Amino acid sequence: MTDEAENPEREAFSKIDTSVPQSARIWNYWLGGKDNYEVDRVAGDAFRAVFPGIETGARAARYFLARAVRQLAAEEGIRQFLDIGTGLPNVDNTHQIAQRVAPESRIVYVDNDQLVLAHARALLTSTPEGVTNYVDADLRDPATILREAARTLDFDQPVALMLMGILGHIEDYDEARSIVRRLVDALPPGSYLVQYDSTDTSKAYVEAIQQYNEGGSIPYILRSPEQIEGFFEGLELLEPGVASCSRWRPDTEALGLPAEVHQYGGVALKR
Ligand SMILES: C[S@@+](CC[C@H](N)C(=O)[O-])C[C@H]1O[C@@H](n2cnc3c(N)ncnc32)[C@H](O)[C@@H]1O
Repeated sequence: MTDEAENPEREAFSKIDTSVPQSARIWNYWLGGKDNYEVDRVAGDAFRAVFPGIETGARAARYFLARAVRQLAAEEGIRQFLDIGTGLPNVDNTHQIAQRVAPESRIVYVDNDQLVLAHARALLTSTPEGVTNYVDADLRDPATILREAARTLDFDQPVALMLMGILGHIEDYDEARSIVRRLVDALPPGSYLVQYDSTDTSKAYVEAIQQYNEGGSIPYILRSPEQIEGFFEGLELLEPGVASCSRWRPDTEALGLPAEVHQYGGVALKR
């Protein structure tokens, strides 16, 4: 057996392509992380030169993730989370937020990026009462995701399905909706869909994405807020519905609503 076969992290590192920018790594760069390469920083800087709001939006999206997970754990009693398109480990990841509220929470992370896989150990720091697991799989293969997640999650009990900043990677809208439907169909009543994505609501963002997509990376599609809402069809959106991430139940409105960002999301219940 080679060293790499014995060591999945080393194997994942050996497969990393540093010649093309990758979404997880650029996102990490914009969030102030260190898990990225020169090619990602160059692409991230070029993007920011056209759309300076990207870093504020990335942070607002992470704060939305934190508020949504906290809300579901604290107010809705959710104890299972399936977070697809996890991204690189961050200061506050889904399991840390959920397990702070309920240490017994069970979390499955899914991503298809080699660097995320290589760093997955940092995501697997569960409380003793709970469980955290990682699945290396593609969103386009919901059957594999559901099968592997079922090793950790009980699909007879409510699950929060999280699709955070990932559906834009599925270019065809109908295909993206069909993937969401297949995943939601596998969840029992009382489950939730938590989702956000980048929107076409800023001219500069549209321009920056066009330039990014021409650079050889896996393309990202900006959608309208109405299209984001379409992903929740058949589900009951919690107040305030689909909103700019910064404005989804902000921690305080004492000084008025936070400035809008061009990432929209929501949280919805499956009855
Ligand atoms: C923009 S990042 C968002 C990260 C995190 N969810 C957040 O909101 O901060 C998108 C993530 O989706 C992952 N991703 C993209 N396409 C994917 C696919 N087809 N299957 C699984 N993961 C994918 C990327 O590797 C990346 O980690």
